[in-house]
Amino acid sequence: MKFRTIEWKRDGVRILDQRRLPQEVRYLDCRDASAVAQAIRTMAIRGAPAIGIAAAMGIALAARKSLSHQPKSFLKTLEKACDEMRQTRPTAVNLFWAVDRMKNVVNEVCTYGIDETKDRLVKEALNILKEDVEINRKIGIYGKKLIKDGDGVLTHCNAGTLATGGYGTALGVIYAAWAERKRFRVFADETRPQLQGARLTAWELAQEKIPVTVITDNMAGWLMTKGEINLVLVGADRIARNGDTANKIGTYSLAVLSKWHNIPFYVVAPTSTLDLTIRSGSDIPIEERSIREITHFRGSPITPKGVKAFNPAFDVTPHSLIHAIITEKGIIQKPFHKNLKKYLQLRILNSELGTPKRPDE
Ligand code: MRU
Repeated sequence: MKFRTIEWKRDGVRILDQRRLPQEVRYLDCRDASAVAQAIRTMAIRGAPAIGIAAAMGIALAARKSLSHQPKSFLKTLEKACDEMRQTRPTAVNLFWAVDRMKNVVNEVCTYGIDETKDRLVKEALNILKEDVEINRKIGIYGKKLIKDGDGVLTHCNAGTLATGGYGTALGVIYAAWAERKRFRVFADETRPQLQGARLTAWELAQEKIPVTVITDNMAGWLMTKGEINLVLVGADRIARNGDTANKIGTYSLAVLSKWHNIPFYVVAPTSTLDLTIRSGSDIPIEERSIREITHFRGSPITPKGVKAFNPAFDVTPHSLIHAIITEKGIIQKPFHKNLKKYLQLRILNSELGTPKRPDE
C-alpha cells in the first residue's frame, strides 16, 4: 500500500487525516491521548479496526507522557486515558476490544514496574497494528475465491486500508483477487452523509490502480436489476452472537436489495469484531451523530434553516440476510449462532496454543 493510515512515532501518533481526502493528503500529529481521542471522535481516523488501533496507541502515548512514579497514580492516569478512548464512538466493538487489551497490560504495573509497563504498552499497541494487517491478509486469501473474472462487486462505506491497520477487510478481498489477476468491476456506494465510499474507497482503490465506479446510494437496486452486481462485500462494526451485524448506515438496505435480487451478501470482518456478549443486533448501541452532517455539505446548508434531521451512523443487518461472514479463520457459514462461537473459541485457542484445525476441516 502506498500510504499509512496510522503510525507510531517516537513523540506521538501520526494519522492520515481522512476528513481532508481526497483533496489533500495531510497528516495529523497527535501529541497526547486527548488529541488521539479527538481524532477518533471527529473521524480524522475511522473504520472499526483503525479506531481500535488508534485508541491503543493513544493509551500507549498517555503512558509515555505520564510523569507518575507511583504505580497507583500511574494506574489512575491510564484508567482515565482508557475511559477517554471508550467515550469516543460507541458502535465498533474493536475499539473496546483494543482498550481491554491495553488495560490488561496496565493492570500488571505492580508486577513489572512503571518503566517496563510503558514499554509493554507501546509493544502491545504495535502488536495490535501488526496483527490487524496480518489478519486482513488472511481474510483476503479466504475471500478472494468468491470473486470471479467478469463479476461486478459492490461495496459500501470504506472497509479498506484507511479503515484498518492496512490492506482492509472488504477491500482486502478485492485487493487479493485483483493481485491474482482476476479482472472484475468494483462499484462503490458514495455513502451519505460522510461520503466514505466516494471520498475514501474511490481514493484508495485509485492509489492501487483498481478501476472503480462510484454510484449514489439510491442507485444500487437499479444496477442489480440490470445484472451489474454479482456479489456485495461490506465491513462490520459489531457482530452479535446470532450474526446480526452493525455496519455503516445503508448496509441494511443493500442487504434487503441483495436478497430480493438473489445476490450473495457477505460481511467481511476480523474475529475481533464479534461480540458474543450481545445476543442480537437489537442490543448493539447505534451512534447518532450531529444532524449538521445531513443539513450541511462542506460547511454550506443544503436544507432549509431550522429543518429537523436524523443521523444514525450505523444500521443493523439481520443475520437472515447475510450469506456468510468472511474472517481470518475462514468463511463462517450459517447457522451463525453455532458457528460464530466455534470460530471465536478458535481465536482464543490460536493465541494460546498455536494453530489448531478450523471447525470445517
Ligand atoms: O463511521 P465509520 O466511517 O467509522 O464507519 C465505518 C464502517 O462502517 C466500516 O464499514 C466498518 O467500520 C468496517 S471497517 C473495516
